Amino acid sequence: MTPRPLLVVTLATAACATDPVPAQPSWQVDVLPVLAANCVRCHGYPTSGFATPGFRLDSFAPTLLASGDLIRGASENATEIARRTKAAFRPPGELAMPPGRELADDEIGVLRNWAGLVDGSLKAPRGPGRPDNAPPTLTFTEVGRQGAVITFAYELRDADRDLVVGSVLGPVINEQGQPGVGPIADLVSGRGEIAWDTTGIAPGTYPLTARLDDGADVDGPAGDADYVEQGAGTITVTAGLR
Ligand code: HEC
Repeated sequence: MTPRPLLVVTLATAACATDPVPAQPSWQVDVLPVLAANCVRCHGYPTSGFATPGFRLDSFAPTLLASGDLIRGASENATEIARRTKAAFRPPGELAMPPGRELADDEIGVLRNWAGLVDGSLKAPRGPGRPDNAPPTLTFTEVGRQGAVITFAYELRDADRDLVVGSVLGPVINEQGQPGVGPIADLVSGRGEIAWDTTGIAPGTYPLTARLDDGADVDGPAGDADYVEQGAGTITVTAGLR
């Protein structure tokens, strides 16, 4: 009679049946939903609740913000993300994430397996997205002007309910004081209002372009330009704005 091995086998089988942790998690399909549900209310952009600025967990890649700052995305933080979620991975004194609560084992497993894929660039891979992914949609509309400031309202949606981040590119004055094209508005899923200060922009009509990232792998495993680009109309800057 050897009941013990039998019991072990039964438990292992049960674990397989209820434990769908993929060995190579995909950012869009596996990782982003865990971070969106558990981390992004503090670690989005801007951060809230005293969370550390300088990185965001709603974006795979680094993002260039309308402020001109470049902040890191989740991919470059994959090992810290996994380490914070389980007591056994953390050095003593490091706070648990999310604070005061432990993630489910399969969620920790997703983050741990993803961190296990961090390569020499110290980034975890995006991996393949959903095969039948629907791209995000954006409406971006001017709603007011005051002084040199133009206000826009936007609505950013995704039929698959992926969390989407992005920006609207338009005319900017670069660090050398020259006119160029760069982000004028930071976007996240949902609705929002954006105030854009046009000080220094020459009067004229300019095209606006949105770059939106719903987590999908747009340009193949090697590339890092994983956004869909769509026109966001034009904007006319007049001398009367000032
Ligand atoms: C209630 C708000 C809140 C939530 C939710 C939250 N965090 Fe945090 N996080 C913080 C705060 C505050 C800090 C700064 C204190 C610290 O470093 O321990 C922090 C720090 C971190 C750091 C270290 C940053 C650095 O600069 O070293 C990581 C990594 C992190 N969190 C990951 C996560 C992950 C992953 C989740 C979700 C599983 C999460 N956090 C959920 C508030 C939060």
